Amino acid sequence: RRAASFAQQLVDWQRRHGRHGLPWQGTRDPYRVWLSEVMLQQTQVQTVLPYFTRFLQTFPTVAALAAAPVEAVMQLWSGLGYYSRARNLHRAAQQVVTQWGGQFPPDAQALATLPGVGRSTANAIAAFCWHERVSILDANVQRVLARYLAFPEDLASSRSVKTLWMCAETLLPPAARAADMPTYTQGLMDLGAMVCTPRQPRCTQCPVAGGCLAYAAGKVAQYPRRTRK
Ligand code: ADE
Repeated sequence: RRAASFAQQLVDWQRRHGRHGLPWQGTRDPYRVWLSEVMLQQTQVQTVLPYFTRFLQTFPTVAALAAAPVEAVMQLWSGLGYYSRARNLHRAAQQVVTQWGGQFPPDAQALATLPGVGRSTANAIAAFCWHERVSILDANVQRVLARYLAFPEDLASSRSVKTLWMCAETLLPPAARAADMPTYTQGLMDLGAMVCTPRQPRCTQCPVAGGCLAYAAGKVAQYPRRTRK
């Protein structure tokens, strides 16, 4: 009941107030979604946009990317930073071709075997492309959920993050609403980027403030709990 309202309110909010019209939205092509998610892992949307377009022009398919010399990939990545992402991108493309017959691995668990694709990125791709009922949990979403649940544990501990992953799964849209998974997933990202920000969150504009335990306690600033590693 509580989970259903969190998901439904987030989905309704994303439709009205979330980010729309980005070039990797409105596609279910895992190559495009994977490319965008890897670029967006540590880089802002506005910076990613021209790189994403150039990449797709130069390498329109995963096979084209796999066949390119790594130097060509690095050169096209130049300026985006975190260059291990580009090396992993190239290696992952080669694995898709050699180990998966040119098709992306078909679910979140298999996607997470690709270099540079962690659990959250794998889940984002599977939710966007195949409506798989799996949650993302990058740093922004950790903050959103830690506040919503007034999650008491220290997120510097991997055991606590594991517990938060299980909580994230309880909040997903119900199976009958799996078609909402792309909007829900984008809604989590957008809420973390636009409303539930690290400092000065805009709680009066938040679609789930009514159920947020940190907000009810007047303690939004105290979450997530995270000691320095
Ligand atoms: N950050 C990571 N993935 C994103 C996406 N799909 N849209 C906007 N920001 C993101």
